[in-house]
Amino acid sequence: MSARTRDLPRRSCLSVPGSSERFLQKGPSVPADMTFLDLEDSVAPLEKDGARAKVVDAVKNLDWGERVLCVRINAWDTKWTVFDVIEVVGNAGERLDEVMLPKVQTPAEVVALDLLLTQVEAQAGLPLGHIGIEAQIETARGLINVEEICAASPRLEAIVFGPADFAASMEMPVLTGGVHIPDYPGDHFHYVFNKILMAGRANGLQVIDGPFLKVREHDAFRDYCKRTKVLGYDGKWALHPDQVGILNEVFSPTQEQFDRAWAILDAYREATEGDSGERKGAVMFGDEMIDEASRKMAIKFVARGDRAGLRRS
Ligand code: GLV
Ligand code: MG
Repeated sequence: MSARTRDLPRRSCLSVPGSSERFLQKGPSVPADMTFLDLEDSVAPLEKDGARAKVVDAVKNLDWGERVLCVRINAWDTKWTVFDVIEVVGNAGERLDEVMLPKVQTPAEVVALDLLLTQVEAQAGLPLGHIGIEAQIETARGLINVEEICAASPRLEAIVFGPADFAASMEMPVLTGGVHIPDYPGDHFHYVFNKILMAGRANGLQVIDGPFLKVREHDAFRDYCKRTKVLGYDGKWALHPDQVGILNEVFSPTQEQFDRAWAILDAYREATEGDSGERKGAVMFGDEMIDEASRKMAIKFVARGDRAGLRRS
């Protein structure tokens, strides 16, 4: 299903611990664009084996609608990765859209997962290339290699920043992942956000910000979401259903922006192709000059608005 989901919205990406039947059952009722059933850090080591069967059951037997459905497997430096893929993709691959690979440090890790998926798909009778990959960048080495990582497999659909593990990898003196640090005069992740965004966009991937761990602080969460939204990110994780509505709102264009983008496209088409006079590549639109670059910016808003279900008013 990677062809199906490559361009679906991922404004809100809900994390559901794979060892919790209660949270798995609740998952489909939360209106997240993307949901990932976690086998990694929200599952205790002694529960890892048991969580796989619960995740398989949830993927197969719950109604996940049209959303992007993903399972986060364990990283290659554990003893679980291969067995996660064989059990989950082998038994529930049909409805599954993607697997998420955490703590990716080198492009070889993505290539290894791609090769493993190809074998498991063949064994399970799934179309080859059916399962997409999301890769998490959450270590210093992963960030250094992010450009090669983003180009490592045609299965890649999204690149995801993991602020909590990244802070640990960098030995930052913080104890809460993914939140603003008032002591720093600016945004301590600004470089990281941009580096990942550029690598993702250069390879046609969606780019996603990770978790904000203070799940009860809704105003601070909304503020923090705006940082990556303004840079151009497609969406961000939710660790709690309350965060999903905020994400769907923040990562969608407003109706006003959507209408304005359409009006720019209309005005620009008329100026460049219309029959009403001299055809121009740069024209006034209200009090501003628009040109081909304005058209490209407007197309981005229209595409995002369409994905968010907006209609021109
Ligand atoms: C997410 O996995 C993170 O480490 O922030
Ligand atoms: Mg992590």
